[in-house]
Amino acid sequence: MRALTSIQIQGVSYAFDKHVVLNHLDLQIDAGSIVALLGPSGCGKSTLLRLLAGLAVPADGEIWFGDKQVASPGKALPPEARDIGMVFQDYALWPHMSVTENVAFPLKMRGVPRKQREERVMAALERVGLAEFATRRPSGLSGGQQQRVALARAIVGEPRVLLFDEPLSNLDSELRESLCREMSQLLRQLGTTAVYVTHDRREAELLADHIVLLSSGSVSAVHSVTSSSGEVV
Ligand SMILES: Nc1ncnc2c1ncn2[C@@H]1O[C@H](COP(=O)(O)OP(=O)(O)OP(=O)(O)O)[C@@H](O)[C@H]1O
Ligand SMILES: [Mg+2]
Repeated sequence: MRALTSIQIQGVSYAFDKHVVLNHLDLQIDAGSIVALLGPSGCGKSTLLRLLAGLAVPADGEIWFGDKQVASPGKALPPEARDIGMVFQDYALWPHMSVTENVAFPLKMRGVPRKQREERVMAALERVGLAEFATRRPSGLSGGQQQRVALARAIVGEPRVLLFDEPLSNLDSELRESLCREMSQLLRQLGTTAVYVTHDRREAELLADHIVLLSSGSVSAVHSVTSSSGEVV
């Protein structure tokens, strides 16, 4: 089994022009834990996730994945060099590719040989319950199924960090809850360190080990979720 990765966010700041979004934010995420980032619209959740992904560069502070520095002021490793998987609200699947091709894409980019690729794609599709849809295009799938494809694509490379930006908010509430429970189980089986952005406290409680509240560009509180029933202390 591969080593788990902690995440250290140290004094990270970020601004759009003069609008300060993150203000010397500190956060330590233990290896293998699932953290929900919760907070009102506009508080900087997606911005922090983009900094973790390498899609934005901090103006100040440092980000470490384990003992590897991935970002420092004005400098950042690109997403493909970070060993991450991401799932977005809008699925972000390639419409011209089949389910299999979508999920295989990150492996293809890394030059994984075809035979190994096929095995790993099938294993990932089985994990998310989509093996029978392997040859379909995304347009032939429901929203929930499309998000499972995105999930399979995120986990297929066995990344050391998984990042989620409101992945369930386009789905209706019943499906949201059942998929949230499934994702919680899957993340626990994988043991990958995960950061999950949501503005839905119920979702955060169902899924995470720790809930981090963001407000005014910094961490205002961290709660531990003590049981799978979602009780927060
Ligand atoms: N491209 C941009 N240019 C200028 N300001 C931006 C840009 N993207 C985001 N912002 C601003 O940065 C702040 C944080 O945005 P962010 O998207 O991180 O919030 P969020 O917590 O993810 O909100 P939501 O829950 O609505 O997704 C907001 O005030 C937003 O208006
Ligand atoms: Mg957002």
